[in-house]
Amino acid sequence: MKKIAVVYQSKYGATQKYAQWIAEELSCGLFERKNIEAADLEPYDTVIFGGGLYAGGVSGIDILTKNFDQLCNKDLILFTCGLADPSDKENTDHIKQSLRKVLTPLMQEKIKVFHLRGAIDYSKLGLAHKAMMAMLYKMTAKKEKDSLRNEDKEFMSTYGKTVDFTNRSMIFPIIRYIQEC
Ligand SMILES: Cc1cc2nc3c(=O)[nH]c(=O)nc-3n(C[C@H](O)[C@H](O)[C@H](O)COP(=O)(O)O)c2cc1C
Repeated sequence: MKKIAVVYQSKYGATQKYAQWIAEELSCGLFERKNIEAADLEPYDTVIFGGGLYAGGVSGIDILTKNFDQLCNKDLILFTCGLADPSDKENTDHIKQSLRKVLTPLMQEKIKVFHLRGAIDYSKLGLAHKAMMAMLYKMTAKKEKDSLRNEDKEFMSTYGKTVDFTNRSMIFPIIRYIQEC
C-alpha cells in the first residue's frame, strides 16, 4: 500500500478544507506547508500539494519546485484552489500558463495538476489583500468590455461579496487518479 501525504498552504481556509477532505478520503497524512520540510516527506510514495491561487501564483508551490530533486521519484500531484471557475477552459489555460513560468518542462511532465474552486469573504481579507483586490477591481473596470476574460467578469461580479464554491465532489478526480496510479 502506497504511503500518501497531503500538504497544503492556505490563507483563508478553502485549500485547507480540500486538503482535509482528500486526507480523509485517502486516510493519509495531512501537513500544513509551514510545519514541514521536504526531508519529512522522505517516507511517502505520493505527495499531494495544494495551494491557494494569488495573482496567478500558487502559494507554497516552492515546496515542490525547490525540492524537486528530492521529490521527483515520488508520484507528485498539485492542486490549485482559486476563485476562477475551473470548469471553464479559458480559466484553466490561464492557470496553466502561470504554472509554466514556475515549473520546468520536467516538472510539468512529472506533476499531475488539478484545479479546484475556492471561496472568498472580503470582510475577512487582510489589509494588503483588500488593497490588491481594490486595485485589481479599478484596473479591470477600466478595461474594454470586449477584452474581459471570463475570469475578469467573475471577479467583477463577486467583488466585495462572500462566495463559497468549495464542494467535496471536486476532489473525486484526484481520488480516482490516486486509485488508478
Ligand atoms: C489578493 C488575492 C489574489 C487572488 N488571486 C487569484 C487568482 O489569480 N486566481 C484565482 O482564481 N483566485 C484568486 N484569488 C482567490 C483565492 O484564490 C481564493 O480566495 C482561494 O479560495 C484562496 O485559498 P485559501 O482560502 O486556501 O487561501 C485571489 C484572492 C486574493 C485575496
